[in-house]
Amino acid sequence: MGWDTKCRVSYVLYAVGLIGVIMFVDVNVPSISTREQLRRNWLSLTDVEDYVVEAVNPSNIRTFLRNLTLNLHLGGTENEWNTAQWVADTWQQQGMDEVHLVPYKVLLSYPSASNPNQVRLLDGSGRQMWVSAIKQKPLYAPEESSSDIPFNFNGYGAAGNVMGPLVYAHYGSEEDFAFLANAGVNISGTIVLARYGQSFRANIAQRAEEQGALGLLLFSDPADYAPAGPDFVYPHSYFMPPSAAPLGTTKLVDGDPLTPFYPATESAFRIPEEEAPIPKIPVQPISYSDAFDLLSELSGAAAPQTWQGDLNITYHLGPAFREAEWSVNLEVNNYNTMTTTYNVIGVLQGREEPDRYVMLGNHLDSWLFGAVDPSSGTAAMLELSRVFLQLYNETGWRPRRSLVFCGWGAEEYGMVGSVEWTEQFAKQLSNRAVAYLNVDMAIEGNYTLRTKSAPILTEAVYQSARRIPNPNPEEVAAGRTTVYDTWAHRRPDPVQPDFPLMQLIGSGSDYKGLQHNIGVPCMDTRYTHDDKTLGEPMYHTLYETFALVDEIYDRGFKYHSAVTALWGDLAVKLAESKILPFSLHIYADYISKAQKNIEEIYGQIISSQNISLEFFADAAVNFNKAVTSFDKVLNGLDQNNPLAVRRVNDQLMLVERSFIDPQGLPGRSDYNHVITAPSKNNAYGGTAFAGLVDTLTAINEASKNDKKPLWRIFAQHLAAVTHFLNTAAKVLSDDLW
Ligand SMILES: *[C@@H]1O[C@H](CO)[C@@H](O)[C@H](O)[C@H]1NC(C)=O
Ligand SMILES: *[C@@H]1O[C@H](CO)[C@@H](O)[C@H](O)[C@H]1NC(C)=O
Ligand SMILES: *[C@@H]1O[C@H](CO)[C@@H](O)[C@H](O)[C@H]1NC(C)=O
Ligand SMILES: *[C@@H]1O[C@H](CO)[C@@H](O)[C@H](O)[C@H]1NC(C)=O
Ligand SMILES: *[C@@H]1O[C@H](CO)[C@@H](O)[C@H](O)[C@H]1NC(C)=O
Ligand SMILES: *[C@@H]1O[C@H](CO)[C@@H](O)[C@H](O)[C@H]1NC(C)=O
Repeated sequence: MGWDTKCRVSYVLYAVGLIGVIMFVDVNVPSISTREQLRRNWLSLTDVEDYVVEAVNPSNIRTFLRNLTLNLHLGGTENEWNTAQWVADTWQQQGMDEVHLVPYKVLLSYPSASNPNQVRLLDGSGRQMWVSAIKQKPLYAPEESSSDIPFNFNGYGAAGNVMGPLVYAHYGSEEDFAFLANAGVNISGTIVLARYGQSFRANIAQRAEEQGALGLLLFSDPADYAPAGPDFVYPHSYFMPPSAAPLGTTKLVDGDPLTPFYPATESAFRIPEEEAPIPKIPVQPISYSDAFDLLSELSGAAAPQTWQGDLNITYHLGPAFREAEWSVNLEVNNYNTMTTTYNVIGVLQGREEPDRYVMLGNHLDSWLFGAVDPSSGTAAMLELSRVFLQLYNETGWRPRRSLVFCGWGAEEYGMVGSVEWTEQFAKQLSNRAVAYLNVDMAIEGNYTLRTKSAPILTEAVYQSARRIPNPNPEEVAAGRTTVYDTWAHRRPDPVQPDFPLMQLIGSGSDYKGLQHNIGVPCMDTRYTHDDKTLGEPMYHTLYETFALVDEIYDRGFKYHSAVTALWGDLAVKLAESKILPFSLHIYADYISKAQKNIEEIYGQIISSQNISLEFFADAAVNFNKAVTSFDKVLNGLDQNNPLAVRRVNDQLMLVERSFIDPQGLPGRSDYNHVITAPSKNNAYGGTAFAGLVDTLTAINEASKNDKKPLWRIFAQHLAAVTHFLNTAAKVLSDDLW
């Protein structure tokens, strides 16, 4: 495809817009609600915020979601292209200034269409005693029976046909594998059975492979995903049914596996597939019904109490079976192939600073129907763009800065579309992008808001959440009238219990490249569940259907609407405020706390190496001081001087960029942000100063001889972090010295 701009903006209007408010003269018939503002020829920030929050319409979101979930939309397939085209068409119809489909040619992974992946139990003579399900059983929604549904698979799990004993490895964490080694269970030559839920599945696959496993089976234990027992599962409840087998990628490095660091354009150099960061062993998801059958046959020592799940048997470690000479056979027929994935980019041009981008995004691809992940977010995004364009139609309002809407391709395979795009436009984005606001799913429950953010956006998110009416009538009755109130009540920050918990942005969705590689401040928000389960129970399964959302999670789509309104409100604040609403004090405070934390926990062991923490501590103080001085600059600023305004905004934008280390974190060239990078042991989480903390952890675990080179790495990275903290302080002033 690759068709380009259909530019329906009136350039006359646009040029008029550049000189400010005069543009409001050139409008269509205004609605009643905005007539007053038009008379004043001015929409204030608050007017726009109120408009956006009020205009979000739940029934539109429902209609968008119904449409998006009628078909599958697996990355790199015709179904994904249709979805991308539909989103592009919708944006054209809504009146977006520009809509682009941006293609990348990438390596994706699919199950064979004819030979299903299977797990078998074989007796000593090779006879098949049992075989796993090849698909997830249709339970409720008609589309669950579609003949287009692929066989169960894990993205990038290697093709192979392996046979061996079985070992139960709990969550497959580092500690779990260490426990097995101590218990005398040798992973080498076995097939590992591990539980989903505590670490990213690609990390489990990597650990299993490193230990010499022949293959990996993944299942979700009912203890983690169906805790209310067998009667309370989909479709009677939102808990996981026995036949569910969650899909998911097993690639560790984000983006296209063949074009690391560079965009997968036509001219790209592609590394040989053997060098790609994907598993060499077969990996396959199975249902807990199938896991029950396998575990029932397993013997060896009983697994420890904490490793037992809710299947009604005693879990054994293996590797032997109860029947002598039985073994497990894993056959995976996945194949990797070059295919095209599309990002869809829609732009509403800014009136004064069109080259400053406030970006909003969500991915378009899903493993199966994806009603929660990602289509709840796509539906919210389409409604939000509609609201902005309706406002534009009614009043001629354009944001001060451009709003850039992004529909990403092939996110499920490991942020493929968004990382390639970030790589392609890294220089421009680094100069022009103000922030990126991601909604991967709008809802995965209706209990409370859950937000991950760069600390610099925290205050703006709090302020927006305080403006959004609470969609939960019981909470309103209890006096908690806003989304913020319920968030603060149900998810207080353990350290500052008066505030809601704001999690540090880790990885796990399309903000990865923008936050962690080029330092664009990002946030990700959604309504979430009450943590009775380890995640959304239907995540990546066949049962993530429209019915799940429409009949169980969000009857009336009020929670979707709340997230849409919050998303829009935050975008307005960032796009419309004259001075960027960045919370420098929160950032400075966050950095000081994290710095002191390292000093308290590791100070002694670090100084025992004659490594000084003094410069690091000074740099944190330095940044705090710079932030305080910057307040004075802002207070004295002539806000009617556009160059002065642009200057401080440029300085504000440079703060996050300052923390980007071009070398990457120690041993991790794909993570550059020295403060917000997630810990390498779990790509989902967020840990401050992960490069320092991970190295200290490695030192702690290393043998005596291996410690020395690690201390050198630590000292070098500490100096880099110190340097970037000093840089962040310095960019808030006009001089270099
Ligand atoms: C879904 O999208 C198609 C294609 O744009 C359109 O014809 C149809 O009316 C839409 N249906 C719903 C329920 O929105
Ligand atoms: C805005 O107006 C244009 C031109 O009349 C129209 O095509 C578009 O659908 C309108 N958008 C919305 C969201 O109403
Ligand atoms: C584990 O088994 C492999 C052979 O499968 C063997 O080479 C290795 O030495 C064993 N490791 C231990 C710690 O026993
Ligand atoms: C658990 O298994 C035992 C023995 O197989 C059986 O008698 C019992 O009914 C099972 N309980 C449940 C809740 O399934
Ligand atoms: C909120 O979610 C629960 C399940 O967690 C569900 O039982 C309830 O009906 C939902 N509320 C709405 C308004 O959909
Ligand atoms: C630290 O410095 C002291 C004094 O110079 C020296 O004795 C000691 O060996 C050094 N320790 C390390 C780990 O380098």
